[in-house]
Amino acid sequence: MFNLNVLSKKDIQSLLKMNDVIDVVESAYSQKASNRASIFDWVFNEFDPGVADMDIKSGWLKDEGIYGMKLVSWFSKNPEKNLPSIIGVVMVFDDKTGKPIGLVDGDYITGMRTGAAGAIGAKYMARKDSKTLLMVGTGHISKFEIAATLIALPNIEEVIIINPINAQVATDMAEKLKDVLRDEFDITREFEVKSIDNIEDAVRLSDIIITATPSRKPLIMKEWLKPGTHLSCIGSDMPGKEEIDPNIFKEARVVVDDLEQCKHIGEIEIPFNLGIIDNQSISGEIGDIINKKINGRMNDDEITVFDATGTALLDLVTARLAFSIAESKKVGTTVEL
Ligand SMILES: NC(=O)c1ccc[n+]([C@@H]2O[C@H](COP(=O)([O-])OP(=O)(O)OC[C@H]3O[C@@H](n4cnc5c(N)ncnc54)[C@H](O)[C@@H]3O)[C@@H](O)[C@H]2O)c1
Repeated sequence: MFNLNVLSKKDIQSLLKMNDVIDVVESAYSQKASNRASIFDWVFNEFDPGVADMDIKSGWLKDEGIYGMKLVSWFSKNPEKNLPSIIGVVMVFDDKTGKPIGLVDGDYITGMRTGAAGAIGAKYMARKDSKTLLMVGTGHISKFEIAATLIALPNIEEVIIINPINAQVATDMAEKLKDVLRDEFDITREFEVKSIDNIEDAVRLSDIIITATPSRKPLIMKEWLKPGTHLSCIGSDMPGKEEIDPNIFKEARVVVDDLEQCKHIGEIEIPFNLGIIDNQSISGEIGDIINKKINGRMNDDEITVFDATGTALLDLVTARLAFSIAESKKVGTTVEL
């Protein structure tokens, strides 16, 4: 018999703070880059191709003493049944006994750890004098990316928002952004926010660009980038997805979260297939920068790219953080298995 801790989305919304999530995600990257954590083979099944599927990402963090998985299901017809199309859960286990530690809703965990990922790319690779953040995409993930970047980079003075297919959505988001960041992430500091309709104009103004769309063709062209721009590419997490011009990779300094995964499903997949880059073109993993094994950038003029496809390690450390805080605050439900 085991006691399993179960945390709802509402529970973890009350427990997790973005600065703590940034810390644990950095630690997960660091552990992976020094071979103290590993990711297992990806499992993917289509129940009805293009209509319904599920995938399992899993891994093991030796120092943390945990392993586990995130199972995400996508059922595109769910909204007709008043259900979300994407449903995810994270399960964490003890690596000494196999005992289940906890089960948690995967939606909010994904937002928090993915926001942290994009921000960590900017923290370690962007120019220190970066002032303007461009958020490309206004979907579920976007508020987490902006919140985490404002927290990790206190010098950011302006946030520009763009929705490449519906400008009005970006205008609406810009109007509400400060309230959302204050209410959901306790961000009260001063910054300017605006939406721009034309993506070329927006890119030309920006020091840091975070992309989070499901686009399958480049949205950002190489010739629009200012010298020294950093890009954290989040949206490409499936074969065929692509958000930036493959030519950007010809000269950029490129870092990944996991090389093999990024080559198959990340932003580097297409430049690899086109022969624009090879293994030698990749400077390393983001964890190598955190571990001070390599530099984030070599000078103020180079373009830097962080390809972040997302691993289960990020979900596991974030869930583990939530379970620890929940235990001390006596939040959640205990189920006897
Ligand atoms: N790397 C990771 O760890 C990770 C984690 C979560 C989500 N993602 C990916 O990030 C992307 C965004 O996720 P989300 O949950 O915010 O999605 P979402 O559906 O909530 O939002 C998508 C955004 O992209 C815009 N968009 C849709 N199609 C587009 C197109 N063809 N061209 C340009 N813009 C388009 C939409 O208007 C919206 O603003 C998805 O591709 C998702 O799979 C990656």
